[in-house]
Amino acid sequence: MTADATPFERLGGEAAVRALVDAFYDRMDVDEAYAGIRALHPPALDRSRDKLNWYLCGWLGGPQHYVERFGHPRLRARHLPYAIGTAERDQWLACMRAALGDAEVEPVLAASLMGAFDGTADWMRNRDG
Ligand code: HEM
Repeated sequence: MTADATPFERLGGEAAVRALVDAFYDRMDVDEAYAGIRALHPPALDRSRDKLNWYLCGWLGGPQHYVERFGHPRLRARHLPYAIGTAERDQWLACMRAALGDAEVEPVLAASLMGAFDGTADWMRNRDG
């Protein structure tokens, strides 16, 4: 692995991103702590898994699967139908932190990914409280 490896490469490529996304939605589906954001999602999570997987591959510096399928992510606009305040932001981040542990992502990489997720999740807030 070269020093300028992308986060996508450091994580372990496509299979590792998918494993992280599956850990994230598996957690959200069973852990009461994330019931608030689980309720915002459709009953079946297959499509949500695919979309987050495709998005994260590109966001981490790998293949642009999401953009190829849907164009520019416009992520904040796409979240406007869902009421996202600090509680939802914090649940999403806590669920992702747990998923990074479940997927056994190396701690230094996990911490740096959490730093990046922090900003993105905060930017998704669309209501007070
Ligand atoms: C801040 C708290 C967040 C909440 C409560 C939330 C919730 C949701 C919900 C309910 C959906 C719709 C799922 C579906 O249609 O199956 C969604 C879609 C999505 N979310 Fe989030 N999300 C949050 C943050 C994030 C963050 C930080 C990212 C990326 C790092 C992200 C990436 C995505 C993507 C790529 C989609 C699919 C968009 C589409 O094409 O329709 N979300 N999110």
